[in-house]
Amino acid sequence: MSNIREVSRVAGVSTATVSRALSTPDKVSEKTLKKVYDAVEKVQYRPNMMAQNFRATRAWSLMVLVPDITNRFFATVIQGIEDTAQKNGYSVLLGDTRDSEQREAEYIRRVETRQSDGIIQLRPHHKGDPKPAEHLKIVNACGCEGTPYDCVRIDNVGASRAIVDHLIDMGHRRIGVISGLADNPHSIDRLKGYHQSLAAAGIAPDSSLITHGDFTLWSGLQAAGHFTRMPARHRPTAIFSMNDDMAIGALQGLKNASLRVPDDISIAGFDDTEYARFSDPALTTIAQPGYDLGRCAADRVLRLIEGDEDATADIVLPHELILRQSTGAHRK
Ligand code: RIB
Repeated sequence: MSNIREVSRVAGVSTATVSRALSTPDKVSEKTLKKVYDAVEKVQYRPNMMAQNFRATRAWSLMVLVPDITNRFFATVIQGIEDTAQKNGYSVLLGDTRDSEQREAEYIRRVETRQSDGIIQLRPHHKGDPKPAEHLKIVNACGCEGTPYDCVRIDNVGASRAIVDHLIDMGHRRIGVISGLADNPHSIDRLKGYHQSLAAAGIAPDSSLITHGDFTLWSGLQAAGHFTRMPARHRPTAIFSMNDDMAIGALQGLKNASLRVPDDISIAGFDDTEYARFSDPALTTIAQPGYDLGRCAADRVLRLIEGDEDATADIVLPHELILRQSTGAHRK
């Protein structure tokens, strides 16, 4: 049985263009129509009429649900989604859900009323979240291991291990953590990586070295206070912040307390947003392939919309440790 992807490959046009040519030929140029019809004949494609009707009623849009539009990392993911959607004839609708499951649910209802054909979620699936309904075409672009539907992600545990190992290699043994919200699956996985690194190096965990923010600059600034108020002998000599925004906020807090980075205390972030490179000092961090996470998620949801996929996908993209000036060797 041939399918729409084969038609698109043989015709040299996108699957969206093939769909349009078959459902609304008046909206497609003569030249493209000919390419599509020739390809249909060549691969003997016989579209089923139900699918055909469905195509005609398509909204040609994807709904992107972002937990915090001000976080630059998510902006990069959205660019990857937008470019892929555009190339395939889709537009993007954006919902800034402020990390609220309830706001997400409201947007999802719009998809159910066909204002959009598929959903890309950027908030990781939390343990207690309900599993999305079977008929929804939904992909998580910033997922975690164990996401019960299609997801694209990095190995958050491994990435966190990489950055904590780097701090340990620099001689640090008292390593503080600025976690994201405690129930966020990324926080949980990154904390797991932190504990694995400590255990591998024979360093006993100390819960006084862990504080929480909410992934924002302001919360990073406040979290720095948790450490700067400690007596110097208890203070960590290095801090792992679970994202760059909080690390940049914390940098400000450390400076306000007259601590020099990295001479008095090292700090590392996570994400490698543009700001990481422009902060002073520039941040050591984990690069997440934000654009590619978005591109792969969009690609995947388009395949789901086309009915081309059966099995649930768990796509893991590589991360990279980026060494800059905010981390240095532990000074006795
Ligand atoms: O939700 C905020 C954080 O989770 C981002 O900064 C990024 O690290 C994402 O994975």
